[in-house]
Amino acid sequence: MDLKELYRDVILDHNKRPRNFGNLAPADAHAEGHNPLCGDQLTVWLRMQGETIADIRFEGKGCAISTASASLMTEAVKGKDRAEALALYARVHALLTQQDAVPDASLGKLAALSGVREFPARVKCASLCWHTLGAALERSAATVSTE
Ligand code: FES
Repeated sequence: MDLKELYRDVILDHNKRPRNFGNLAPADAHAEGHNPLCGDQLTVWLRMQGETIADIRFEGKGCAISTASASLMTEAVKGKDRAEALALYARVHALLTQQDAVPDASLGKLAALSGVREFPARVKCASLCWHTLGAALERSAATVSTE
């Protein structure tokens, strides 16, 4: 399957059946993200076990790309620790914004997001959930440090 097919199939699938959709109660942290270009919003909820993301959900109304990206993100970071999740965020950001960034096999389905580079106006749609995850992780760190 080439990247174009992967992009189409993965985005369609995860938009139609978003994984980890809904809120998480009780959550250790959450953050709301906002795409100023379209007004769409998204909330990411986290449950942490120490430094590890034990559970993650998202809610929101957005386009197919933002929903699919959030769904893929929740699958990819669940079970990872804070540093691993942030490293993955950096790799996905490079994939979305750098024409020469080549997705390697370890990215799995996230490689499909490289297809968004063809549509520069949609990069913010795909990165919205990741920015929001970064904010939620920061908050969970703040929560932990005050305990
Ligand atoms: Fe709003 Fe994509 S058009 S998030």
